[in-house]
Amino acid sequence: MRKKLFEVLTVSVFIAAILAGCSEQSIEEVESETAASVASTEEEKEMTPADMKVGVCIYKFSDVYMSLFKEELKKDLVKAGFREENITIVNAAVSHGYQMLQLKKLINAGVDILVVNPVNTYKTAEVTDLAMDAGVPLVYVNREPDAADEIRWENDNLSVTYIGCDARQAGAIQGKIISDLGFENVDKNGDGVLQYFMVKGEKDNADTYFRTRYSVDALKNAGWNVEQLADGNGNWDKNVSEFVVTKALEENPAPEVIFCNNDTMAIGALEAVSKAGLVAGQDVQIVGADAFEGALENILAGKIAGTVFNNYVEQARLTTGTILSYMKKQNVAHFYGSDYVKVTKENAETILGIIRDGEKTSEDEEIQTEWAQ
Ligand code: BGC
Repeated sequence: MRKKLFEVLTVSVFIAAILAGCSEQSIEEVESETAASVASTEEEKEMTPADMKVGVCIYKFSDVYMSLFKEELKKDLVKAGFREENITIVNAAVSHGYQMLQLKKLINAGVDILVVNPVNTYKTAEVTDLAMDAGVPLVYVNREPDAADEIRWENDNLSVTYIGCDARQAGAIQGKIISDLGFENVDKNGDGVLQYFMVKGEKDNADTYFRTRYSVDALKNAGWNVEQLADGNGNWDKNVSEFVVTKALEENPAPEVIFCNNDTMAIGALEAVSKAGLVAGQDVQIVGADAFEGALENILAGKIAGTVFNNYVEQARLTTGTILSYMKKQNVAHFYGSDYVKVTKENAETILGIIRDGEKTSEDEEIQTEWAQ
């Protein structure tokens, strides 16, 4: 859009210069007059959501969480006045190289802003450079770029923002869900030590690292003795998790807790323990993160101990708000966070209501007002 305007004006500078030659005005005079008129035209032309082209690149479309987020973001952008045909959402198919290629294509197609869910959070410096060199503001979502890149945004005052949650909080809440059950109720074999499995997300991912570490630390801080019997990468995927847990059960048939870095993997773990003849919720406690519908139903049925609500509705709204702020050339922070919420049988119904009907919490209202200002 901006590029097209520039091209039209460049052509008119050229034509004006030729005409000026006929009327004895110097080329320098014409150029400076035209430059002034270019500047004022650009100043007057304030962008609206309807003219803005948004490029979104998601690390993997089949990821349940990211697919909920992307649908919510599209809905939210359209509600804010963006045109559906101006929103391009592409799948990076878990390849950093492919993601770079797609981002280049989006930039060449003239997007005014990029929303990136990075494939490799340790290679975001390349993504940041690409967007900054093209003069396109950049909003990272869900997967936090590595600290070295983030420090650069601050030091070099780059138009880059990250929107997501603090995974430490999710881990700590998972641990709390288990410690709230009471040690004597969880230590089934009565040996004074809590034996657990850890089903992790992808390697080299901040959510994986922090959820894993902080869930166990919360138990240790509560004074519990803990022992990890097995761990494995379930890659955020139900089937991979089922496989990991099935294998782990062959060696260790009686874990007392199975921590899962997300809910799809918690459902996979539930399948595995049920097939192995264990009663989830009695013999073994499973805990997840995200608050997907399937997990919430299992929490209400007493099979999953709890989860942590990863509010994609709020994160989509924050993303739209950030895009609007970049559009209006307002001051934009480098980070906007969304809080995780502890979910157990007590509040699972309420969270189900929020995700099924898009019901608004008072917190949601506050966020909306904040962005409306
Ligand atoms: C979510 C996972 C999701 C992952 C993708 C996490 O924040 O909890 O469900 O698969 O992001 O990066």
